[in-house]
Amino acid sequence: MATIAENTAQKVARPEVRQTLCFIGGKWIPSASGKTFDTLHPATEEVIAQIAEGDAADIDLAVDAARAQFDGGEWSRMDARERGRLMYQFADLLEENAGELAALETLDNGKPISDSRAADIPLVIQCIRYYAGWADKIQGDTIPIDGDFFCYTRREPVGVVGQIIPWNFPALMAAWKWGPALATGCTIVMKPAEQTPLTCLRMARLAQKAGIPDGVINVVPGYGPTAGAALVTHPGVDKIAFTGEMATAKIIQRAATDTMKRLTFELGGKSPNVIFADADLDAAVDGAHFALYFNQGQCCCAGSRLFVEDSVHDEVIDRLIAKNQDRRLGDPFDTETEQGPQVDQAQFDKILEYVEYGKQDGAKCVSGGKRHGDVGYFVEPTLFTGVTDDMRIATDEIFGPVLSVMKFSDFDEATRRANNTTFGLAAAVWTRDISKAHRFASEVRAGTVWVNCYDVFDSAAPFGGFKQSGLGRELGEAGLAAYTESKTVTVSLG
Ligand code: NAI
Ligand code: MG
Repeated sequence: MATIAENTAQKVARPEVRQTLCFIGGKWIPSASGKTFDTLHPATEEVIAQIAEGDAADIDLAVDAARAQFDGGEWSRMDARERGRLMYQFADLLEENAGELAALETLDNGKPISDSRAADIPLVIQCIRYYAGWADKIQGDTIPIDGDFFCYTRREPVGVVGQIIPWNFPALMAAWKWGPALATGCTIVMKPAEQTPLTCLRMARLAQKAGIPDGVINVVPGYGPTAGAALVTHPGVDKIAFTGEMATAKIIQRAATDTMKRLTFELGGKSPNVIFADADLDAAVDGAHFALYFNQGQCCCAGSRLFVEDSVHDEVIDRLIAKNQDRRLGDPFDTETEQGPQVDQAQFDKILEYVEYGKQDGAKCVSGGKRHGDVGYFVEPTLFTGVTDDMRIATDEIFGPVLSVMKFSDFDEATRRANNTTFGLAAAVWTRDISKAHRFASEVRAGTVWVNCYDVFDSAAPFGGFKQSGLGRELGEAGLAAYTESKTVTVSLG
């Protein structure tokens, strides 16, 4: 098998894998069944480590630990400022270990080390720090009700939260879910994606080192239909926060009904990215390329439907093809690499199947379309032109480096077609006309709209989907609301 990290300046060393067991009540324990599963390095298909395979019995233990910690009140009733201080300490420890975490992310997920270093891990640190600042600022209202009464609200933690995350931004998805849960005083049982459990387990250890009490963060690695499903139906869990596929969310929503769990979902998209002829074309082309190909196309908000105004269509296509030809695919531990492998065989197969659908449905593949190399799950950056709105490559989330380009001729056509989807996660518009930009932002049905930029994320800015792209919002103040219950207290003054 290929070795990944040779000792040249450009190559980053492969990190040591330290945590592979379940993390429950502050202890590292094997799964009750004794079973394990492999996690792979997607660039070489080599097995990195065997991870404890959690199932219902392990989820029971983890929920008991989280429940005891929550009900005992050590964390949930701790002075809020002290909770914030421990979170700041956690963020500092994440920062001290940023290099190791970035390398671990690249090892498990296959994303280029330059991305894990510049995007994933810095955003993880920012998110925990941002929510640390909220811990002592979560407050209720006083309400002027009729009569001789004093009425006020308290915002209390929702309780034990089950968190289920995907593999595309493993550490960052953990941070998005832990940040608001910790700040509000909730306790956590997390099930990381089976493809990428390593950074989450490492982060749990760093939280413990920072002084966050045992039982606050519990991590049970395992598969969705077993460990994930057990978490969703567990009567000791008050809320489920899920990021992943829409079809999985629908299963979870049904399964969570019996126990009336609070739910937040961050699901997929087929986000429209609209380039008007009056745009700064250099910026628009760079932005459109980044919008889709970043993270190997494995982004919930990927700008996967590119609408280009007819007069600049051919020029935009030529420039995008040139950028694809220049793109450096290869060893993700090489700091010069721009595109790594897809996360696993299933995703790789799905993407190449969609390339075939594109051809069958009559679109033209003008760039890429094939596997790159013969080891690892690499797919060439791929571009289709002549795409119509009903083709499978225009309607379905592919989650890979496949861009579908459509031509349009006026504003109303662009907004109507942009909205012609069951998704509504993100959208972007490129134009120098500010009225057109704001009109588009107002008319498009999506939770995030970028104007002359793409994928600008900040922990302070809410993120989430309209329509079937989600339920509720993450990040920002809005992200806190989903982790609190409002309690109304009425006191007789008579
Ligand atoms: P998935 O939705 O199956 O997996 C996401 C998480 O849910 C994982 O932790 C998984 O173990 C868990 N899960 C799966 N089935 C479950 C169940 N019945 N109960 C509880 N938890 C369950 O997504 P998958 O299979 O990894 O990817 C398939 C497609 O989903 C991708 O090609 C992409 O289109 C989409 N996707 C979207 C993501 C997003 O960020 N919006 C992230 C990952 C995938
Ligand atoms: Mg993996």
